[in-house]
Amino acid sequence: MKRFLLTALLLAPVCGAADLAPTPPMGWNSWNKFAEKVDDKTVREIADAVVSSGMKDAGYVYINIDDSWEAGRDAQGNIQTNSKFPDMKALADYVHSKGLKIGIYSSPGPKTCADYEGSYQHEEQDAKTYAAWGIDYLKYDWCSASQVYDNTQATMAAAYAKMGHALANSGRTIVYSLCQYGNLDVGEWGAKVGGNLWRTTGDISDRWQSMENIGFKLQPGREKYAGPGHWNDPDMLEIGNGGMTDTEYQTHMSLWSILAAPLLAGNDLRDMRPEIAAILMNQEVVAVDQDKLGRQGVRVSQEGSVEVWSKPLADGGLAVGLFNRGEATAKVTAKWSDLGLSGSHKLRDLWRHEDLGAKTGEYSAEVPSHGVVMVKVAR
Ligand code: GLA
Repeated sequence: MKRFLLTALLLAPVCGAADLAPTPPMGWNSWNKFAEKVDDKTVREIADAVVSSGMKDAGYVYINIDDSWEAGRDAQGNIQTNSKFPDMKALADYVHSKGLKIGIYSSPGPKTCADYEGSYQHEEQDAKTYAAWGIDYLKYDWCSASQVYDNTQATMAAAYAKMGHALANSGRTIVYSLCQYGNLDVGEWGAKVGGNLWRTTGDISDRWQSMENIGFKLQPGREKYAGPGHWNDPDMLEIGNGGMTDTEYQTHMSLWSILAAPLLAGNDLRDMRPEIAAILMNQEVVAVDQDKLGRQGVRVSQEGSVEVWSKPLADGGLAVGLFNRGEATAKVTAKWSDLGLSGSHKLRDLWRHEDLGAKTGEYSAEVPSHGVVMVKVAR
């Protein structure tokens, strides 16, 4: 009987989510920089900084509180905030007053990954609480659900559908972000359970090897699942957190944009070097990520440690990344034959903000170690 109910729940697709997140969500998330050290004051200051730094105008609108805000439940089972977040409704009102949106985090299991209260057996109640607080985005992280569910695809999808339905019935429009590390073919069912995005891998860390592994190695093949309303999520940005060079952060930004990834900054926006601000707010690169066609880019050629990626754009042009994953500067060539092009095409360098004139047949550039040259090829 239980199995029947779960299956029935899964077969009824969650409605109303498709027009949410028509382009990949953009904003900020607390986890990469602050982990459990996030509180009301920090979130308010970050919201202020998103506006004053220009991030809001660049498109970063979600201010997402990750794990560690939760306390237990009251006698009626209502989720409580801990002392770091004395009044979530007031915080949401503050974030909204800046013209921004606010996100929160929970788990389908009894406990979150950092061992705070999860939503298990309180899904509808929690969704209503989030709606009452004015929450606009939920990241729902599998964590301890592995201890109460059997970890098959059907069970996991049903657990996510449960919250998907609860959000759809909450009375508020809430972006739904699945976090189950890309397991059990989530691309096949993530959108059906109401997901607007789903993580494709384990956690990113602020190191070249981590970003390279997630971005270059683990994304190819998933592009068929991405499109308006439902995106692959290769995890939040580490740009500005200090563990990579600015060249590597440029590669991170370029690749995530070609992948049509959600762009959730993970650094301390109150204290951002101009070089980091310029990377996060490169409007020509952000425009690639946010392109209305909503197609995830793919690798079109690879030779040793140099590779070329391409993303089709709504105006018929292509965003092309010439990447060098090697340890020395290298020449990278984007061949028209690999890009499905012929004839002469105008090029623009999206990091130098320079027109390069028209090229025929191919385009080559010297690319620094771990770096990128990103161009737009006009139709
Ligand atoms: C998991 C997620 C991270 C973060 C932490 C919080 O590891 O993948 O993104 O949300 O939990 O505990």
